Amino acid sequence: MNHDEIIKLVEEFAAKNLDNHDGGHDWWHLCRVRNMAMYLVKTEGYGDPILVEISALLHDMGDSKFKKERDSDTGSLITFFLRSLGLEDKIIKEVVFINHNISFSKGKRPAEVSGEFMIVQDADRLDAIGAIGIARAFNYGGFRNNRIYDPDGNRPSTIAHFNEKLLKLKELMNTATGKRVAEERHEYLESFLKQFFREWDMAAK
Ligand code: ADP
Ligand code: NI
Repeated sequence: MNHDEIIKLVEEFAAKNLDNHDGGHDWWHLCRVRNMAMYLVKTEGYGDPILVEISALLHDMGDSKFKKERDSDTGSLITFFLRSLGLEDKIIKEVVFINHNISFSKGKRPAEVSGEFMIVQDADRLDAIGAIGIARAFNYGGFRNNRIYDPDGNRPSTIAHFNEKLLKLKELMNTATGKRVAEERHEYLESFLKQFFREWDMAAK
């Protein structure tokens, strides 16, 4: 099987495994993360392109936000599928490692991970900030029926998620390109928050 045939089948497999995902974790999120990750391979000058592309397409499969628990099965499903495409076990193991550990909550430190891991993680995190990040956050908040903002802090809100996670991502970037892109998207988050509170405070008076 050649490269393009492999990627086409991985795309189909990834697209089939999006049941219960919200609009911020749909096929287009996978496309954006894949494309950003491939851009990082180019600009950073490291990372096995096929490993990065497959890992990006499969990074959200089995995500615990959309399943009762992150299937221990996700690893076996990915392994079984990638073996059927004739990929080497070494590549398959890394794709599964990235799938299991990419999430913010895992808090993996760069010393423990590969260049490909750092690239896919940066690409995923870049999609959580900037204009698209804001759109995704409010979409996910709506999906969970969270408040937009809760001044008393009694209920989960998307504005609270900015402090809990989104504003921290800039400092957590692994790659030089990721840091540069994150800088601009972070500023956009800050100007959004400034305007949000300007409007909120005016309405509160
Ligand atoms: P991770 O697994 O690292 O959290 P994902 O790309 O799977 O990364 O999803 C993270 C995205 O989900 C965030 O960028 C945000 O858009 C959304 N999200 C997660 N938790 C919340 C929350 N409590 N409120 C609003 N959005 C959230
Ligand atoms: Ni993601």
